[in-house]
Formats: sequence, structure tokens, C-alpha cells
Amino acid sequence: MKIFECKVCGHIEFDNAPEKCLVCRAKRELFGEKPEAIKQPADPANLTDGDKKHIPVIVVQKDCKMIADAPCTDVLVKVGEIEHVMQDAHYIRYIDFYLDRQFISRVWLSPDACHPAAGLHLKAASGTLIALENCNVHGNWMAQVEL
Ligand SMILES: [Fe+2]
Repeated sequence: MKIFECKVCGHIEFDNAPEKCLVCRAKRELFGEKPEAIKQPADPANLTDGDKKHIPVIVVQKDCKMIADAPCTDVLVKVGEIEHVMQDAHYIRYIDFYLDRQFISRVWLSPDACHPAAGLHLKAASGTLIALENCNVHGNWMAQVEL
């Protein structure tokens, strides 16, 4: 899976650079392939507390009943297994969501008002969901699940 980063705003795209950045509208030429733009635990079998504070936890629930007469898949994301702090100097700036590696939504988080978490109500009943969070100090971290 190739990872591309917008050199203007830092937005991540998978597989291919888009014609324009879906966040800041920068042109394709301003994307660069950058696998290291998403942090990885040094040892996935032995996660450190730092890893556990940043890797998103994804919970999927079917049929919340808020959406009338349509299937709804709720995707709830929390950062992380050990809850990340939300302070002015150190917080989760946003959580991005991708379905089948296509960017579908960003939720911006205020350190004063928000817990390090976000949720979406998806039309899709299946597919691969990626949640990618951006910590203002420690960068991008991701997790993925099959819906
Ligand atoms: Fe952090």
C-alpha cells in the first residue's frame, strides 16, 4: 500500500496521489510518496505505552436506528487504547476516515471541547475502514478494520 502526503497540509492519501488535495485543494504535483508519514510501532507484538496512546481503537456497530429506513454502520474511533491527552500543547488535531482506502471524512478536534474520539454513520455495510489520527506532537497513526 503506497502512502502519499500533501506537502502543503500533510493530508494522507493511499495508493495514488489525487488530482487535488481533498483537504487543501493543492495540486497532484504537491503530493509526494512518503511511507514514513504514518508512524509504526517498533515492535507490533510488544506495544509501548506511546504506541498505545496513539494507535486508534475502532469500534463498529450496526444499525443505530438514527437513520430512517436505511442500513447504517456506525464507526466509533478513540485514540488510543490508553487515552491520549487533550491539552493545548499536546492533543489529537483530527481523525481522518477512509473507506476502501478512499478518503471520506475528517473530524477536527478542539483540545478544550473534545475527547480524543470521533464517529461516523456510514451507508456502507462492508469494506475496509481506516482511521488515521494526527497528534500535534507525535504525527500520524492508523488502524484498520473490516466492516
Ligand atoms: Fe501524542
